[in-house]
Amino acid sequence: MKKSEAPVGVIILAAGLGKRMHSPLPKVLHEIGGQPLLCHLLDRVNEVLPKSSIAIVVGHQRETVEASIRSRPEYAALDLTFVHQPEQKGTGHAARCAMDSSWGEQILRKKGAVLILPGDLPLVPGSLIQQIAAPLRRAEVLRLLTSELPDPTGYGRVVRRGKKGGVLRIVEEKDATPREKTISEVAASIYLFQAAFLRFALQRLSNQNAQGEYYLTDLIAQASRTRKKHDILVWTHPEDLRGVNDPWELAIAGRILNERIVREWARRGAKFVDPLTTWIDVGVTLGAEAVISPGVILSGKTRIGARATLGPNVVLKDVTVGEGANVKTGTTAESSEIGERAQIGPYAHLRPESAVGIAAKIGNFVELKKTSIGDNSSVAHLSYLGDAQVGRNVNIGCGFVTCNFDGRIIDGQRKHRTVIEDDVFLGSDCQAVAPVRIGRGAYVASGSTITEDVEAESLAIARTRQVNKPGYARKLKEK
Ligand code: UD1
Ligand code: CA
Repeated sequence: MKKSEAPVGVIILAAGLGKRMHSPLPKVLHEIGGQPLLCHLLDRVNEVLPKSSIAIVVGHQRETVEASIRSRPEYAALDLTFVHQPEQKGTGHAARCAMDSSWGEQILRKKGAVLILPGDLPLVPGSLIQQIAAPLRRAEVLRLLTSELPDPTGYGRVVRRGKKGGVLRIVEEKDATPREKTISEVAASIYLFQAAFLRFALQRLSNQNAQGEYYLTDLIAQASRTRKKHDILVWTHPEDLRGVNDPWELAIAGRILNERIVREWARRGAKFVDPLTTWIDVGVTLGAEAVISPGVILSGKTRIGARATLGPNVVLKDVTVGEGANVKTGTTAESSEIGERAQIGPYAHLRPESAVGIAAKIGNFVELKKTSIGDNSSVAHLSYLGDAQVGRNVNIGCGFVTCNFDGRIIDGQRKHRTVIEDDVFLGSDCQAVAPVRIGRGAYVASGSTITEDVEAESLAIARTRQVNKPGYARKLKEK
């Protein structure tokens, strides 16, 4: 009989609530690097075994877990089945739910191997999955992955026959004798099984143990008792196997992941002043020679162009930054675009759907919302522009405000638009009461409140005339 090639089935265990997280959110949906734990694992499976048939065992809030995975277009091409584990009776029971389901029937018919992964190991690299998933040798019924941990507390310990002999069984922390607890070789809960053995052995599991659960780990003792052969993959990077069971472990896994992401971008040419205080999500990309200062947080689908500079504490979510742009200290932006060579900040705020053109300038304490600023235009100080469209080569003086909300709804719009055409010059301290349009090349005098459209090339002054009363100041003081 020929044994399997690549595993035909992958089971991911994700039914537990994760009591130790102290959260109503199912454990596998807690995030590091901007995406749920479960997605990190799925991404690796997708890379290494894109053609496998994947069963995700769900229980606690299974609708939420399923909806979160199904909503991601990157998994649309995966062969994904969600299997229900109605009660969380242990990892062995979870695997059994998958093997006893119609998904399991199909896998059995294909006579292949089944890879089992726990959903709470987000740092497992693709190379590990590739190695554990290599075909089993003739007569082998399983391969288990073990690793030496400096602190094995909480993990299942690997009990061998003699020091380097075959594996006899895996004993859980709660069932281990004091002597067994001194074993530093642990099982990571990652296995490859011959499907027929898996199905058969799962049905024979008992729950006579400290936690009254059906342990997946007991399959090793079963194989050893019945003299079935196994293979062992010893993994020498214990960091890859860090599980997430509580918020502290979530934070540590997040930090390890972040370091990996930063390292990868640094190898591709980005420069980081302080990798430890820079946070970058998995979906972010950085161009060569981008310079990233301490305290920068880049999330979602943010794209940083080559040679762009991000100053200290810049926070960007779903933002595109053009090549050579300079985003200065404390600027925060979301769902916006920053053009090539633009200068933003310090302390600017770009709210969603804003766009800043090539070589444009947005200065300190300027807020944009649903606003586009054309190439080479400048809004240098202390301004608010909401629902505005600003053309090219426009100069907006200090303290400009678009009055985009007047409590009325016009043409179904609650907020009203301000249009400022190309080459306009706006003096300092102006307001535009929207809806309003300032025509091309117009000039607006300082301190004007613009309530009506301004024609192209004209000068608008909308303020009361100054009156000087000679000697009046002395009179006032004498009063
Ligand atoms: C498990 C292993 C332990 C191993 C450790 C490595 C068992 C009995 N123990 O312990 O040997 O060292 O992982 O990380 O296998 N789950 C279900 N249904 C259940 C129970 C759990 O789907 O009924 C899922 C959980 O959602 C989780 C995964 O299985 O994603 C692992 O469960 P967890 O409770 O975290 O196991 P550990 O105590 O970490
Ligand atoms: Ca765990």
